[in-house]
Amino acid sequence: MCQGPLHEFLRRLPKCEHHVHIEGCLTPRLIFELAKRNNISLPDPKDNPAYASPEALDERYNHFTNLDDFLGFYFIGMSVLHNTSDFEDLAWEYFQHAHADGVHHAEVFFDPQAHVNRGVSYNAVVAGLTAACQRAERLFGMTTKLILCFVKHLPVEDAKKLYSQAQASGHFTSGMVHGIGCSSTEVGPPKDMFREIYASAKSKGIPLTAHAGEEGDSTYIRAALEIGAQRIDHGIKITQDPELMKKVAREGIMLTVCPLSNVRLCCFEKVEQVPIRAFLDAGIRFSINSDDPAYFKAFILQNYCAVQEAFDLTVDEWRTISENSVKGSWVNDARKSELLRLIDEHVKKYEY
Ligand code: ADE
Ligand code: ZN
Repeated sequence: MCQGPLHEFLRRLPKCEHHVHIEGCLTPRLIFELAKRNNISLPDPKDNPAYASPEALDERYNHFTNLDDFLGFYFIGMSVLHNTSDFEDLAWEYFQHAHADGVHHAEVFFDPQAHVNRGVSYNAVVAGLTAACQRAERLFGMTTKLILCFVKHLPVEDAKKLYSQAQASGHFTSGMVHGIGCSSTEVGPPKDMFREIYASAKSKGIPLTAHAGEEGDSTYIRAALEIGAQRIDHGIKITQDPELMKKVAREGIMLTVCPLSNVRLCCFEKVEQVPIRAFLDAGIRFSINSDDPAYFKAFILQNYCAVQEAFDLTVDEWRTISENSVKGSWVNDARKSELLRLIDEHVKKYEY
C-alpha cells in the first residue's frame, strides 16, 4: 500500500471501475472451498504442483510468465463455479472490496461461454451476478453494470449461440446485461473474430468494448475500433501508433488501463513503464482498474496507489483521471452528474 501523502486522498476518491473480470476475483481459498463443496476435481498436484494447496496456488500466481500462462490458471479456477449462489457469493465478495476501496460505479465482465461449456446454465450465471449487483446497489448505493465477455480461445460458433441465447433471454433490453466485451488470448485468433456479433449488437444499440493492445500490437486496437468497439480494454500498445493516439484522444474513446495486471503478466517490467504520463499528455481518456484482483493480488485502490508511486501525480491530474473515468462510464447523465459532484466535493478538500 502506498505510503505517500496522497494515500488518504486516493482511498476516499470516488472511483469507477470498468475492467474487472468477476472470475478473476476467485481466490485460491475460494477455489479449493468450492471444488470441495461442488465435488469438482482440480488438477492432480502430481501433474501440477500448484494445486497442492491454496497456499501453493497463491505462490504460483507470483510467477505468471505471460497472458496465456495466467489464462491457464484462470480458466481452471472458474471451473469450480457451479450454482447460482456461487456466482452471487463471488460477486458479493468483489463488491465489498470495491466499496471499501471507494468504488461508486462498477462495470463487471463475466465469461459465460466458459460456464455454459461445463453444463452451467447461462441463466444461472446471470441470476447469481444480478443478485449481487442488486445487493451492492441497495446496501452501498453503488451503480453496477454487467458486461458479457466473449472469449477468443473458444469457437466463434459458440459465441454466436450464446449471443442468440442472451438476446432471447431479453437481458440486453431489460438492462440485466448492459454491454458486450471480448477477452482471453490475444495473439493468434483473428483480430476481428467477433465482427458479426459486434455488427448485430451495434445495430441494437448495445454498448461494445474489447480487450485489445495488451500483448498484441496497436493493430489489434485499430481492428477492435473498426468492428465497433467504443472503449478499449488495456490499449497500452497504442503508443506504437501516434495517429491512433490522436484519433482516440479526439473521439474521447476510453482505455481501461490495468497497471498491476500489466506488470504481473510481463507486458511491462514496472508500473513506471505503463504509458500513464503519455496518455495524460496526449489528452487520452483512461480509467485505472484491477482486471483480475485475486490473481494479481491487488484491487483497484492498490492500482491507484501504484500509479501514484510511479508517477507522483498532482491532485489536479487525479481530478482529470477521475472525471474522465466518469465520462467514459456506461451510466445515464444524471448518475454521471452525481459522480462528478462527489469527485468535485472530495478534490476541493485537497486543493490549495
Ligand atoms: N481475461 C481475464 N483477464 C484477462 C486479461 N488480462 N486479458 C485478456 N483476457 C482476460
Ligand atoms: Zn481484462
